[in-house]
Amino acid sequence: MNQRSCSLLVLLAAGSLLPVARAENSAPAPAAAPVVIQIDVGKIATHVSPMLYGLMTEEINYSYEGGLYAELVRNRTFQGKENAPDFWSLVQDEGGAGSMALDPIQPLNAALPSALKLEVTAAAAKQRVGIANPGFWGIPVRPETSCRASFYAKAAPGFAGPLTISIESNDGATVQASAQVSGLTTDWKRYAVTLTTGKVTSSATNRLVIAAQSPGTVWFNVVSLFPPTWNERPNGNRRDLMQLLVDMKPAFLRFPGGNYLQGHTLATRFDWKKTLGDVAQRPGHLNDAWRYWSTDGMGLLEFLLWCEDMNAQPVLGVFAGFTLRGVPTPAGPELQPFVQEALEEIEYVIGDTNTTWGARRAQDGHPAPFKLTYVEIGNEDFFDSTPGTYDGRFVQFFDAIKAKYPALKVIATTPVKSCQPDVVDDHFYTRAAEVFQSDAGHYDTTDRQGPKIFVGEYATRIGTPTPNLNAALGDAAYLIGMERNADVVVMSAYAPLFTNVNQGAMQWPTDLIGYDALTSYGSPSYYVQKMFAHNRGDVVLTTKAEGIATREWQPPTPRGGKEAPRPKQVPTLFYVATRDTPNGTIYLKLVNAVDTPQTVRVEVKGVATVAPEGVAIVLSSGSPTDTNSITEPTKVVPVTTKVSGLGTSFTRTLVPNSVTVLQLQTR
Ligand code: AHR
Repeated sequence: MNQRSCSLLVLLAAGSLLPVARAENSAPAPAAAPVVIQIDVGKIATHVSPMLYGLMTEEINYSYEGGLYAELVRNRTFQGKENAPDFWSLVQDEGGAGSMALDPIQPLNAALPSALKLEVTAAAAKQRVGIANPGFWGIPVRPETSCRASFYAKAAPGFAGPLTISIESNDGATVQASAQVSGLTTDWKRYAVTLTTGKVTSSATNRLVIAAQSPGTVWFNVVSLFPPTWNERPNGNRRDLMQLLVDMKPAFLRFPGGNYLQGHTLATRFDWKKTLGDVAQRPGHLNDAWRYWSTDGMGLLEFLLWCEDMNAQPVLGVFAGFTLRGVPTPAGPELQPFVQEALEEIEYVIGDTNTTWGARRAQDGHPAPFKLTYVEIGNEDFFDSTPGTYDGRFVQFFDAIKAKYPALKVIATTPVKSCQPDVVDDHFYTRAAEVFQSDAGHYDTTDRQGPKIFVGEYATRIGTPTPNLNAALGDAAYLIGMERNADVVVMSAYAPLFTNVNQGAMQWPTDLIGYDALTSYGSPSYYVQKMFAHNRGDVVLTTKAEGIATREWQPPTPRGGKEAPRPKQVPTLFYVATRDTPNGTIYLKLVNAVDTPQTVRVEVKGVATVAPEGVAIVLSSGSPTDTNSITEPTKVVPVTTKVSGLGTSFTRTLVPNSVTVLQLQTR
């Protein structure tokens, strides 16, 4: 789906948000007025769901390939056109000569029908002929690091090797690490070596080369290179990105999408059964939703292990018969195979090992069932333009899942009438912080008798490749609204989660976490997520405020619209107070959304004392357009300080353009 029209439609479907505005449309803030915030600890407004803060993920912006999934070789299974495998080149050094081509005659197996054939016609002495791969925008090299290299190979009679496999600088001048493989035969066999660097300087301008120094013919497939992974998992995840995620303390991970779940057609949806087992048996598929190849190295089990490694629960998105470009499968017998597939997928996740798919999970290396509470039926089914068809599809899934797994909660991707879903997934994308700030009360009037809400995708899309501080101020205001309504909003997740920042990698221009081959960073919005998740509390306290100034904001004229919408009054300050019952800490979250300081008097009643010393965590920077990047990864980060002078009545000044969490200790 074209991301621009897609996001616009999401906004329209979301109903009350207006699309596209620029921050410079904002009127200057008025002079600071005194604000009084009264917190009544004795009056619990509602409870906070422990699942409130989580993650949403899909294969977009090279999130796994060239991202979290730590494989360093790009196109390890030789997809490509006719003879030419994408991202592979021929190395012919010092007069060595040869050729390479895709060969469908000598496949490794039925899942991977084309191998890469290397014919070395002339190689002697210092000459070499081989194949080279540039990685995903470079192969990262770090000092004294061991990487696992492996490949499948077979040779024509008369050639047994050796082959030299090396990580080297792109110009071939510097060998960073290398090893030899010999004993090739005329049968396919997997070869594995460890490549260990010395005291080298970290760099990403490297390639992987497998080369021969004597004539012969060799076929290759599944050429792989893994750096050390998180928890040392084979086929595992990149460590720096996992660290960023674990630091967020996410309660759940919604996967596998997003549009990636759906694909353009049935053939290109996320077909979980094809993502299980030995990676050499996974065919991979074209991720046509986001226009690049997926090896499916990040398969269903890897998603589940990823959850396990974050101590997060999976929120399992199951395919619901609706692709991005196809005709939705109607409810009834035609849909039943997909319902059955979803039941089997759930069985893979939580079934005993005496069930068919639980046994398959055990065979894949994980006998213990995973914890699963939520299953989501499809993705953004409001795009199904035939009225009512999602209703029928949803109910068929809902009934089947509830019949077999009554404890599971079932999420609908848009409201339905035929039954009451446990949860409905709302998506909101906006291009102006003021949109979220003027709609921060979105859930204040939601029907409490209806389904719970999962804000499954949202973002203020200002800044690229990752959002700036201004965007974070929009997100934080919206999160305050969600937290205040935590009785109905039980889960939330920013989207998209990841982007590789290299040119050509990104399909969606504003993403939470950015990285290249070597380094990674969190955006200001990332730090907002982290601040909120770390300071959640288990109850929302009754809190009111007086004296919050507003500013006038002119929403832009919608595309195709003739008249400008009426200006809106947008609050300049947002607040919510929660409390952690076991330890008595109040978390007062405050957003100062304007360029001037604002002074707040906080009055706390319903407790004997508020300790004079507490903690302030403040995210701010000199300008709302300030941001983080590969070169300045920590320009905008929260600063934690001890504060004094607190009590049941105290005053604090909020710096301009800031998000603050005040931790108050009560007794
Ligand atoms: O987050 C990017 C995309 O936005 C998701 O794939 C889709 O669900 C939404 O339209």
